[in-house]
Amino acid sequence: MAGLPLAATLSLEALLTLLIFRCCVAGRGLVGDSVVLALASALLLAFVPPALTCHGGTCVGDVGRGTIVAAVWDASADGGIRVALDHPMPAAPAAGQMLVTVRGASINPVDYKLGPVLASAPLARWFLMHGVGRDYAGTVKESNCDAFKAGDRVFGLTSPTLSGALQEVALVNCGSAARMPKKWAFHEASGLGVAAATSLYALQKHAVRKGDRLLVIGASGGCGSVGVQVGKALGAKVTGICSTSNVDLVKKLGAAEVVDYTRGIMHPKKFHGARAFDLVYDTVSSPEDMDYEPIANPWAKAGTTYVAINGAGADWVRTLASSAFGMELQRENYDLIVPEINTKLLSELARLADEGKLTPLVDRVTDGLEDKTLRDAVERLRSRRSKGKVSWRLGGRGGGGREGQGTARVL
Ligand SMILES: NC(=O)c1ccc[n+]([C@@H]2O[C@H](COP(=O)([O-])OP(=O)(O)OC[C@H]3O[C@@H](n4cnc5c(N)ncnc54)[C@H](OP(=O)(O)O)[C@@H]3O)[C@@H](O)[C@H]2O)c1
Repeated sequence: MAGLPLAATLSLEALLTLLIFRCCVAGRGLVGDSVVLALASALLLAFVPPALTCHGGTCVGDVGRGTIVAAVWDASADGGIRVALDHPMPAAPAAGQMLVTVRGASINPVDYKLGPVLASAPLARWFLMHGVGRDYAGTVKESNCDAFKAGDRVFGLTSPTLSGALQEVALVNCGSAARMPKKWAFHEASGLGVAAATSLYALQKHAVRKGDRLLVIGASGGCGSVGVQVGKALGAKVTGICSTSNVDLVKKLGAAEVVDYTRGIMHPKKFHGARAFDLVYDTVSSPEDMDYEPIANPWAKAGTTYVAINGAGADWVRTLASSAFGMELQRENYDLIVPEINTKLLSELARLADEGKLTPLVDRVTDGLEDKTLRDAVERLRSRRSKGKVSWRLGGRGGGGREGQGTARVL
């Protein structure tokens, strides 16, 4: 951001901040976000001395409560990410918050897409860069929540304004936490955050029901693998699209039919003009990836909504404006999902897990926090080839940084 006039820097950071709010935190309006951000920026400029801003992703000047080990985005570090051994302990929980000793954490594409950008933005770093990742599981250390007490095993999403997930202790809102599935390990439960909740939200919002034909594009990824399982749990007959190496995996997840996109998906005789599906759930199309919509939309029954979780910039503007102004501004028969993730939705995921309808799918699990394994794991997710989640097992201070094969298993 060096070299940009201050006003331009602030405007850019405001936009980025709004984007991450909308991507990661549900339930807040765009107008509300803007007001909060404007006030916060004014306060920062007026009162916060430069010595208190964050350096390289680690906020200094706030270590009165002690320090913890945490992953931080740091533009000057190799790969833009590193482990900070002296990250400030999160603040004591206010009403409606709790401190969680993190035992498992997972990351999502939004982390590697927005994390490094925000790490180079001084204001955003102060307000938002509280570590890396949103998805956590662990035990409650100190609670100011009615629903949870110290020692409870919980999972959910951190708020980017409070805390990262890839750190020893996280500060989280009670409203975005739930009790862990009974038989899942911490790192497995941490995979039930953003991706799983987004898929459940999308399929519930579009009322997938018994007998429906559901097409899941990207069926082996963090979102798609849950889309297949939840679709089946809702009674749908699921068709999954993935590459050759994932065909068996997607079948085991519950797909009745699997299409290998490496074998001519662009002209699949099977679906051409068939209008076979009651719903298409697209977890792949994005500005950085290919666009499935023109290919897959004609496979959906006439008048059905094309459901996506990433899309062109113009679609993001429309979907954010829709949720901000409470009116439908998206394209006709198209829904770019911004989920509202809360305890109810997360508890529903835990229930499906306890009933054996949802099974952990972990591409790679890393023990502890260490620079090289941290970088490697982020690169694995960035490769877009992961099967399920990229996760960590945390517990000991520092940790050994050992990498392991994930489960990528279906129970
Ligand atoms: N709207 C929201 O709130 C929201 C929430 C979560 C995620 N997202 C977005 O949704 C997208 C997916 O997230 P994710 O966590 O599922 O990502 P992910 O786990 O990184 O996805 C990896 C998977 O994508 C599959 N894939 C890649 N290219 C493909 C293609 N051309 N056709 C079919 N499958 C393909 C890969 O399977 P193969 O190896 O078989 O190709 C791999 O299993 C990202 O863009 C993310 O930013 C949005």
